This record gives sequence, C-alpha cells and structure tokens, in this order.
Amino acid sequence: MVCTITDVRAREIIDCRGFPTVEVDAWVDGDLAGRTDVPAGRSTGKREAVEVRDGGRRWGGQGVTKAVGNVMEIIGPALIGRDPRDQRAIDALLCELDGTGNKSKLGSNAVAGVSLSVAKAAAHVTGLPFYKYLNANAHVIPVPLVNLINGGKLTSNDLEIQEFIVMPVGASDLLEGLQICYEINIILHDLIVDRFGKIGANVGDEGGFAPPLTGIREPMEMLSTAVNASGYADKIVYGLDAAASHWYDWERGVYRMDGEDMARDDVIDMYVKLCEAYPFGSIEDPLMEDDLEGHAILTSKLDGVQIVGDDLFTTNTEHIRRGVEAGAANAILWKFNQVGTLTEALDAAEFAYRSGYGVQVSERSGETEDTSIADLAVALNCGQIKTGTTRSERTGKYNQLLRIAEELGSQARYPGRDFRRPI
Ligand code: PGA
Ligand code: ZN
Repeated sequence: MVCTITDVRAREIIDCRGFPTVEVDAWVDGDLAGRTDVPAGRSTGKREAVEVRDGGRRWGGQGVTKAVGNVMEIIGPALIGRDPRDQRAIDALLCELDGTGNKSKLGSNAVAGVSLSVAKAAAHVTGLPFYKYLNANAHVIPVPLVNLINGGKLTSNDLEIQEFIVMPVGASDLLEGLQICYEINIILHDLIVDRFGKIGANVGDEGGFAPPLTGIREPMEMLSTAVNASGYADKIVYGLDAAASHWYDWERGVYRMDGEDMARDDVIDMYVKLCEAYPFGSIEDPLMEDDLEGHAILTSKLDGVQIVGDDLFTTNTEHIRRGVEAGAANAILWKFNQVGTLTEALDAAEFAYRSGYGVQVSERSGETEDTSIADLAVALNCGQIKTGTTRSERTGKYNQLLRIAEELGSQARYPGRDFRRPI
C-alpha cells in the first residue's frame, strides 16, 4: 500500500489553563488522518526540550503563533510526500530540521505535535487503533496514580509536596480501581470541608483538592483518614510526586518545608519514616533534579518502593543512562513532549526497561481533550499511568482506557500489585 503525507497544518487552540497551545493535523492522501493537541508543563525540569512561545503582550506572552508557523512553513513542507509509517526516519528529520539538541529552534510544542500526528495518521491508514498500531502485543491496562491532594506549582496553596496519590493496586480491573479512588475522593472532600470550609475544596491544575495544608504529616493523615473510612485500605498503596526541585532553595542549597531548612539527609530521613508509617508504592522526584547521588542513596534505603525520575530524567535516554550508572531511582516518568519526538520517547522507555527500570506514563499539568497518552500507556505495556483526578482533560484519559479495556476483552490485563513489572 502506497500512502503519503499530503499536508501538515497547525493552529492555536486553548489548553485547560486557558493558555494557547499547538494543534497539529497530518493529512494523508488528501484526508485528515491524525490530530494532536500538545500539552504543556508548569512544574518542568530544567533539562526538558524547549517550547517556542511568542512572548510580548498577546495572551500574556504565551501565544504559539511562532510554533504554529514553524509547522506550517518549515516542518510541513519537508514532510509532504513522505510515508507516515516511516516514524523513525520522520522523527530523525524533525531533529535535523531543528538542529539544536533541545528543540529550541522549532519548539518542542511544534515537533511533538507533528511527531504524534504522523504516528496517528499511520495508525489511521493501517486501520488499527493507535495503541495496536504502536504495538501488536499491547494488552496491559495501567494502574492509575490518582493525586487526591495537590500542592506545589500546580495550586495556589502553600503545600510543598506537589501530589499525594493513591494507587488502587488491589482492584481487579481499572473500573474498580477508579471506583476505589473516587469513593476515597468523596470522603476526602467532606473531611476537607469540615476542617477548612468549602473554600478548602478548591482543586489544583490536575483536579485534586488543594487545601491550605503544608508539610507532609498533615496531608498524609488527612488522606489516610479518608482511605481508612472508605474501607479500601488494603486495596491501595500511596504515592507522592514530591517535585523536590521546586521546594529546594537553589541559592542556599537547602530544602525548605513548612518554614524549616532541611538538609538532604533530613529529607531522606523524612521519606524513610513515611514509608515505615504508610504502605508506599511510588515516590517521584523525592530530591532535587541534579542530585543523582542522593537519589541513589534513597533508592537503596527504600527497598521495594518505586522511585520515579521526572525532572530528574526528562524522558531523555542520555539522562536516564547517567541515572542508571549512578543507581539513582528505578523508574522513569514518561512524557513524550519532554523530549520532543515519539521515537526519542519510545527509545527512552526501551532503555529504561532494558535497565530494569519501570515506566510510568504521565499527563502534563496543562492538558487538553486529547487522550493520546491512554493509547501510549497501553502500547508501552508499562502498567502505570498518572493522569490526574477530576475535570475532563484528566478523566478523558481514564475513559479512553476503559474503552480500550473493553475492546481488548479477555486479553486485557490489569496488573494491580505488579504495576512495576506487568509482564
Ligand atoms: P508538569 O509536571 O507541570 O511539567 O506537567 C507535572 C509533574 O511534575 O508530574
Ligand atoms: Zn513530576
């Protein structure tokens, strides 16, 4: 079958925060075949690929007309006539056209949108669902990490830790897992309103509650009270995204929590005590993103707990390689637009697996109605996904996973407690 890309178009659309973002359409043989809305980070790692934003006064500087122009004028014309199934070659061409190593010329927002749209277009012309086009063996429906209490850069409270998470590892399938998490969320809502009044039940960017709490002890007590009251304590384990780079004082070289300075050893001690007090499954970015040695110490101390690198690794094989060599963490957070192209992100996942590291597919805090990461998580058979709590740009991903699970029928596997090694 001969098929060729006949057009690549882009436009400005709006993300869930009301900021502009890039939407890309890939046309094949005269038909619209693949569309991607590019998500955006706010709690970003400093080694991530770089978005191109317009600056100036329009949209508070957040406009993406330059990135859109890069798709329409530079990338699109270079792809016309190419076969969309040549993903690796097309992504190599995108890297070459950009030429910077961090996508700062064309913009990771332009490059990621094109790369994923080409993959979806190829799935469309082959007549396969996106997850199945990417992997004929795709069958693992991931365990969700639902962040019920939110802080950090994604909220307006003073809570340092960004995400307090429950993982329904004792559920028998995704739907039961979601039921468990959202029943806990209903109880948590009432606890928060009882204590802080209804203003306390406002939510952060990823749809979890953002009550006026600080530190780590009180939010954990509140969350575990809700978990215990739900009757599901034996069906969940806890998770955190500490996003520690964002409560690290870079000038003074100390961590700042609850008004106190903390040295690295104090922070490590805090996690060790936390894991003694509560059943923990996963902790993301526990220390600041330059501290491979500290991550290695913590990883060896917390035997049995998954330590995930987000800002630490930025879905970049070279950064993951350094982490593996140092023994830092034992899983990566996987965000395709942190590195730019789908090929680079798939390479990062493969390198992680071959190094014995887990892979957790993730939303960005600035999402859209695009549900691609649901298909990507199933295609990677990774066993775990972090995609927020309430609001449709989050729940849309769960809903797509439920559809995929139904389509896979008896072939679908929900890994539960084996989320780190689902196969
Ligand atoms: P983001 O980060 O704001 O860069 O999407 C969310 C996270 O830290 O997981
Ligand atoms: Zn993170």
